[in-house]
Amino acid sequence: MSQVTEYSDKVMDHFSNPRNVGEIENASGVGTVGNAKCGDIMRMYLDIDDDRIVRDAKFKTFGCGAAIATSSMATELVKGKSIEDAMTVTNKAVMEALDGLPPVKVHCSLLAEQAIHAALWDYAQKENIVIDGLKPPVNDIEETEEYYQMPGE
Ligand code: FES
Repeated sequence: MSQVTEYSDKVMDHFSNPRNVGEIENASGVGTVGNAKCGDIMRMYLDIDDDRIVRDAKFKTFGCGAAIATSSMATELVKGKSIEDAMTVTNKAVMEALDGLPPVKVHCSLLAEQAIHAALWDYAQKENIVIDGLKPPVNDIEETEEYYQMPGE
């Protein structure tokens, strides 16, 4: 992916018209993560059925425009996936689906990824199961420093 300096049409669309904003009552899993540097917070709700398929996903955020757009896309991507496949909704996958993000906004996409992981973790704890590759959530995503960076960053 080449370096992106502006918001793509898809980012603008998901920012102006975010999908899946809100809460799920009695959600199967809820995860909240924050980024201490910018102070933004993301909460993700997942509804997971008995076949362990994500039937619905909603989010609420005190986040910037890029956080809103990436969470909107992330919820769209995660719906209909098995809990294992939900792990493939990484910040890289979300950014690619949005045709990229400016480098300074890449960290925002990690809020969505980590909030999904935190909600899956909550679900796994309740169900007493292990999801391959899933790690316990961290309070501040900057602690991980493992997220995908755009080339040239
Ligand atoms: Fe904090 Fe975008 S600046 S999530």
